[in-house]
Amino acid sequence: MTHPADDILDGAVYRTGVPYETFRRMREQQPVRWHEPGVFPGFWSLTGYDEIREVLRDAGTFSSTAGILLRPLAQGDDPGGDRTLALSAPARHAALRGAIADWFVPRNLRRLGRFLDDAARSAVGAAVAAGRVDFVTDIAARLPVDVVCAFLAIPDADRPEIVDWTTDAFCAGTAEERSLAHLQILEYFGALVEERRARPGDDLVSVLARVRYEGALLPPEDVVLNCDNLLVGGTENVRLAMSGGMLTMLEHPDQWSMLRDDVDGGESDGTLGTAVDEILRWTSSATHLMRRAVHDVTLGGQRIRAGDRVVCWLVAANRDPAHFADPDRFDLRRTPNRHLALGAGSHYCVGSRLARLEISTVLREFIAQVGEAVPDGSPEFLDSIVVNGLRRLPLKLTPRAV
Ligand code: HEM
Repeated sequence: MTHPADDILDGAVYRTGVPYETFRRMREQQPVRWHEPGVFPGFWSLTGYDEIREVLRDAGTFSSTAGILLRPLAQGDDPGGDRTLALSAPARHAALRGAIADWFVPRNLRRLGRFLDDAARSAVGAAVAAGRVDFVTDIAARLPVDVVCAFLAIPDADRPEIVDWTTDAFCAGTAEERSLAHLQILEYFGALVEERRARPGDDLVSVLARVRYEGALLPPEDVVLNCDNLLVGGTENVRLAMSGGMLTMLEHPDQWSMLRDDVDGGESDGTLGTAVDEILRWTSSATHLMRRAVHDVTLGGQRIRAGDRVVCWLVAANRDPAHFADPDRFDLRRTPNRHLALGAGSHYCVGSRLARLEISTVLREFIAQVGEAVPDGSPEFLDSIVVNGLRRLPLKLTPRAV
């Protein structure tokens, strides 16, 4: 017999939205709850903000090397274990993180910001001129891929293929099509890494190709997996946060008008800043993060054994009333807003500044160019327990009167 808490493990449930009510009951009744093995291995579900933050901040006790996502038993542990940044143990993580984080310095972010301004202006301009748009495919999926291609210095001629493969890797109809697209991405990066080792540039692939750990360069396949992670991490979540944010604005016209008035009135940095964080909290596109206990530990009154899986439900933490006043209210001026949508601790999202820049740029462009946006059919949601958000958001747009 299934337990009501098993709702949260059924991808189909998310097609009609995150099961917040189930998460709320779990947080109130048993914020650290054991799930027996079934399709998934046995694991602890964490739904309270404090316990989740404690786990994410303690990489020594709660390791990410076996994978950060809950995978069906049949799939085994993540093959990227101790190879990618997110799945590295503390010493290797520090070496890789230093190299990648150093690349995201203000000088490189400014360069990306200029590129993004132009890309957003033309994507929103084209959508307004057409009068109709699927916001997910035409704007929210396209811009982040263009930005990642820019910082990996993927040649212009190859970008259409990368855009197609990335879209298919997430959105293709069958699992076979999705994994084929993924293999194509890995193969492409394999050749690119060899080329950048021979002729390095100032891009992030070249940086990764030169990273040394314990006296040696990383094996090429590890560089490839890290490039793939940047492409995936840098596109999927931004797409989901941006499109989820847009839908929520349409559902809360008072908030949209307030944001527009503030931006028009020159308050753009202040309210845009709090708006982006509220969109991140509200959409919580990464539903959960997983860790494994390195040794026995007590958490929320429960005894966690060495080797146990611990799943941190970010969607639940970000609605915890102990940390967010009136958590189910979408409030673009919310402050403070210490959400966990970008993680916490040493694995905190390395692309966080870029993610915020991308979302705020698109919002600003929408405010500048769009008079009215209304639904043009029903939005469609993904059926996934891993990422939360929209597959399609058809809109009708009218230009803003000058
Ligand atoms: C709305 C957008 C984004 C969201 C919601 C998001 C979410 C997250 C979260 C929750 C983590 C923590 C993972 C963990 O603790 O196991 C993370 C880490 C990471 N993110 Fe993001 N991310 C976003 C955008 C980006 C972008 C734009 C990039 C790339 C440029 C990126 C690259 C990464 C990488 C490489 C890590 C691993 C960091 C580490 O382990 O040290 N993300 N992200």
